[in-house]
Amino acid sequence: MATKIITVANQKGGVGKTTTVINVCHGLALLGKKILALDFDPQGNLASALGVKQEMGIYYLLTMGQNNKQERQFIHQTVRTTGRDNLWIIPGNQDTRGAQIDMSTRERPVSYVRQVLDLFMKYGLDYIVIDTSPSLGGLQERALWAADLVIVPTAMEYLSNQGVIKLAEILKVLDEKYRWNGKLLGILPTFYDDTTRQSRDSLNNLQEAFGDLILPIIHRATVLRESAADGQSIFEKDPDSRAAEEYQKVVKAVLRAR
Ligand SMILES: Nc1ncnc2c1ncn2[C@@H]1O[C@H](COP(=O)(O)OP(=O)(O)OP(=O)(O)O)[C@@H](O)[C@H]1O
Ligand SMILES: [Mg+2]
Repeated sequence: MATKIITVANQKGGVGKTTTVINVCHGLALLGKKILALDFDPQGNLASALGVKQEMGIYYLLTMGQNNKQERQFIHQTVRTTGRDNLWIIPGNQDTRGAQIDMSTRERPVSYVRQVLDLFMKYGLDYIVIDTSPSLGGLQERALWAADLVIVPTAMEYLSNQGVIKLAEILKVLDEKYRWNGKLLGILPTFYDDTTRQSRDSLNNLQEAFGDLILPIIHRATVLRESAADGQSIFEKDPDSRAAEEYQKVVKAVLRAR
């Protein structure tokens, strides 16, 4: 199977992007899929939440990765093990911002991230999964264009679907104007709370707007917050929890996607 690229994005902050990347990546890795996770967010949370040190790996990747002549050495210098079978990461840190500026100064094409990721296409990886920051700039746009599949986590609160609609519009532009080859895998309702009307209303609105594209919901769960703080995935922290069961369903949806 060719390596598939998955980008997890929503310009809104704190909606569960990083949590989704960690748990989908580790869920896939536990099923024997080989995964490389990339932290495109200058906050560097992905590494921390996996218990890995923040580093300027993404800076190197985005400024020096294209047509790198010392490929093996470059990969060795940027890719880190996570201490888990089948799961590797290129960590990021605040220097990723510099790479972002460099990218726009050099007017890199919309295909730039995809081109850079060509580096990793011959190592038998099943998925490369990109975590993105809560904004909509050139880097996010290029990470979306690079994707075969896009997942958009969205918190169940009033107006949460505004951001999702905006993102869906961007995907449409990438498709129509820049011949994007990927597709929206789905919108992932997060922070769902059975006791509030707000959650139900938000989900209804999303279902009306996006129908089949709504993925199985993730409830608000303290254990998800705790697992991130402990540098663990939910499958390590509490594999019997409802949250683990819910993320497992998302993993299955990824496996089914063509
Ligand atoms: N379903 C959930 N229930 C409870 N807490 C959650 C849930 N999902 C994520 N969290 C916690 O909420 C916070 C924000 O989640 P996360 O970092 O995944 O969001 P994000 O979209 O990546 O944020 P940012 O936009 O800042 O990158 C974290 O502390 C995380 O552990
Ligand atoms: Mg994040």
